[in-house]
Amino acid sequence: MKILVIGSGGREHALAWKLSQSPNVERVYVAPGNAGTAQEPGITNVDIAITDFEGLAKFCDVSAIDLTVVGPEGPLVNGIVDFFHDKGLRCFGPNQAAAQLEGSKAFSKAFMQRHNIPTGHYKVFESLDTALTHINEIGAPLVIKADGLAAGKGVFLAHTIAEAKLAATEILGEQAFGEAGSQIIIEEFLFGEEVSFICMVGKGEVIAMATSQDHKARDEGDVGPNTGGMGAYSPAPIVDASLHQRIMRDVINPTINGLRDEGIEYCGFLYAGLMIDSDGIPQVLEYNCRFGDPETQPIMMRLDSDLLELCNLALDGGLNQTNVRWNTKCALGVVMAADGYPFGYATGLLIEYDQTTTQSECKVFHAGTRLENKKIVTSGGRVLCVTALGNTVQEASQRAYRECEKIRWDNAYYRKDIGHKAITRETAK
Ligand code: AMP
Ligand code: GLY
Repeated sequence: MKILVIGSGGREHALAWKLSQSPNVERVYVAPGNAGTAQEPGITNVDIAITDFEGLAKFCDVSAIDLTVVGPEGPLVNGIVDFFHDKGLRCFGPNQAAAQLEGSKAFSKAFMQRHNIPTGHYKVFESLDTALTHINEIGAPLVIKADGLAAGKGVFLAHTIAEAKLAATEILGEQAFGEAGSQIIIEEFLFGEEVSFICMVGKGEVIAMATSQDHKARDEGDVGPNTGGMGAYSPAPIVDASLHQRIMRDVINPTINGLRDEGIEYCGFLYAGLMIDSDGIPQVLEYNCRFGDPETQPIMMRLDSDLLELCNLALDGGLNQTNVRWNTKCALGVVMAADGYPFGYATGLLIEYDQTTTQSECKVFHAGTRLENKKIVTSGGRVLCVTALGNTVQEASQRAYRECEKIRWDNAYYRKDIGHKAITRETAK
């Protein structure tokens, strides 16, 4: 089979790498891909933008692609799956109606309320004046969110009334996010530990992927500005069997069934970002209609089952009858980023790394990289995700950091404490 993966991040490198290992896969194409996918055996990059639906569909036709797997939220929210289906092309991912779970926070909050899915209290505002009055009434801390997609930048954790007003004014008054900020959500501030709960869904059936946690904040100790994620590990030790069951019962199943009741069939990866409070009760912070980045990288390192087979089961039915096989080891990925990320940063910097020295059970997934005169240079904010397996999260972390130390470019930045909560739990045992 020939597969097309759409996207160019670390998530897409990891998905393409895993798909290429399937005995039934002849070749994986990645549009547009990065320097990592360009160098991977069995994988070929194709230079088509993720926004060019017509070009992507034409490529599938001409190259006889059997299945397309969509990585990022942008094309999903803009209806790429509907577009492909109309052309008779097989595509794994939610359609536009289902992708609203991520595309509109106002939609997803109202959906959760309709189906009694646990989430923080909230209100939606279009007018800045009413939003400011509401902020005065309820006080801080609270969370202000732009309704639509904002590349991970549309959420403001406000610890004071002044910060909350500033965020509301930026989004509604100054239109910092354009159309995506024509409405804001003012939400209760939730406390606890975050977990990424990712599933594969199709035909009303669901299987959970291995649990994971990521580090959204840029700096050590989980402080500093929010990013797309600075590192992740799997499994998440906080999710024991009873919490797992509770999440399936209270969040995942009601989500899939609630959508079905509303005439929406979900097919694809479904990601619930959860806050687990001190009593072990999960609440939904957000839905993503895709796999997480960087969660994909450690999760794919642990997946022993055939990813192509799982995608086919999701599309054709049968997920509930399958047993997913996981490596019992832990996996941890450290994101190496450009200095300045998530704000302005330089690109085109030469990456120095002797790939022949990569340790076993270690894999360097690329994100913001490209080939220039056969050399690998930086091309984005999150550049690499250095991922390793280990018998414990601590061992995986030590292996990943040993590899990071071998990789150099000007002012490369990475956190040195990825996995610290899990490691503290391990060492307390
Ligand atoms: P979201 O895009 O909604 O996941 O928000 C990005 C990040 O902001 C989350 O991963 C959390 O770390 C944080 N966050 C979002 N909503 C809340 C909330 N209601 N309370 C506390 N933190 C939140
Ligand atoms: N790592 C968080 C996300 O993919 O949204």
